[in-house]
Amino acid sequence: MGEAAAAGAASPRLNILFGVTGGIAAYKAVHAIRGLVLEGHHVHVVATEAALRFVGKPTLEAISRNPVHSDVYEGVAEVRHVALGQAADVIVIAPATANTIAKLAMGIADDLLGNSVLASTAPLVIAPAMHTEMWQHPATVANVELLRQRGATIVGPAVGQLTGSDSGPGRLVEPEEVVEAALAAVGPGDLAGRSIVVTAGGTREPIDPVRFVGNRSTGRQGVALAIAASRRGADVTLVLANAEVPAPAGMTVVPVSSTAELQAAVTDAAASADVVVMAAAVADYRPASVAEAKIKKDSQGDTLALELVRNPDILAELSAQRRPGQLVVGFAAETEGDDAERLRLGREKVTRKGCDFLVLNRVGWAEGFATEGNSVTMLNSAGTIVGEASGSKVSVANRILDLLI
Ligand code: C5P
Repeated sequence: MGEAAAAGAASPRLNILFGVTGGIAAYKAVHAIRGLVLEGHHVHVVATEAALRFVGKPTLEAISRNPVHSDVYEGVAEVRHVALGQAADVIVIAPATANTIAKLAMGIADDLLGNSVLASTAPLVIAPAMHTEMWQHPATVANVELLRQRGATIVGPAVGQLTGSDSGPGRLVEPEEVVEAALAAVGPGDLAGRSIVVTAGGTREPIDPVRFVGNRSTGRQGVALAIAASRRGADVTLVLANAEVPAPAGMTVVPVSSTAELQAAVTDAAASADVVVMAAAVADYRPASVAEAKIKKDSQGDTLALELVRNPDILAELSAQRRPGQLVVGFAAETEGDDAERLRLGREKVTRKGCDFLVLNRVGWAEGFATEGNSVTMLNSAGTIVGEASGSKVSVANRILDLLI
């Protein structure tokens, strides 16, 4: 049994054995593997020979960042035909053909994937993909039922356009669903029973009915935090301000726009939360007055002066009001290029805001915003560096959550 399963918790770094079998939908498996890797998991692909006719080994190796195995007679010295299954926290097979499903139901081990499944006690997630007739054939129906009774999770198939001109049940579910099912199968995570409030996005301060003062935050890092916390079992409330990414499922999402709205929503949710993470870029200033009608340039000269007034510092207020045991985490995006100077600014900020942790990252015209990855330094309330993380925004999110735990 893998490390995480042995600890009885869904660690963010799972050992995932990803079986790919010979169907055209194997190309979609590539996206699911990539999704799991970007979340920080170790993915070991076991491909059947037929799968490798659809997707090349180099593709699977590059995406999984690990060697791809397919032959029972390779790696014999390390007893690979059982080692891979034994080390897995979860086994995912996507796409699973009718043939593989039949073999799994009968316990046939004539290839590396069959051996690995038999040698494992990890949860098994099967995402079938085949033509409707094959899916509805009594043999497949009985095999799927048998696997279900033994505890396997069957995801899909989806209904829709198949490889040819026909359509019906048999499509592989979308890669995100494969990822969700794989992670859900591992069981309650290490944040189960905890409630977390995350703010994400950037606030917009209205100038008039059509204009606002805003910032370039896309909400990606905050949303990634909310998703990672939810996957690890937390009860998540996401206060989402004007994000460019869709609101995730599986959590309470409170859409807001201005700082005043964000403040009301986060203060309300924080009352019963164990952790509050202020990842949103909150405007420090707002227009002193909001025009009732659109400001016309004819009524202005060549310049237009906008008077701004200070917004409340929500993070400082939440930190000051926090209950014993409640953690408040702030973010600091700094354009300062010098590492030591950025750290000094971060230390100053953590003291000023009074939060338990501060996640410091560098932003600039081409850094931090609207990018897939991020690189952060985490400080505690004393200003000591307690962690560093870089990589995809979800893997950075998981490292931040590790620290909170
Ligand atoms: O002072 P600065 O804006 O750099 O601080 C960033 C942190 O403070 C973020 O966690 C942000 O959500 C929070 N903040 C706030 N209220 C403000 C401004 C920032 O809570 N008015």
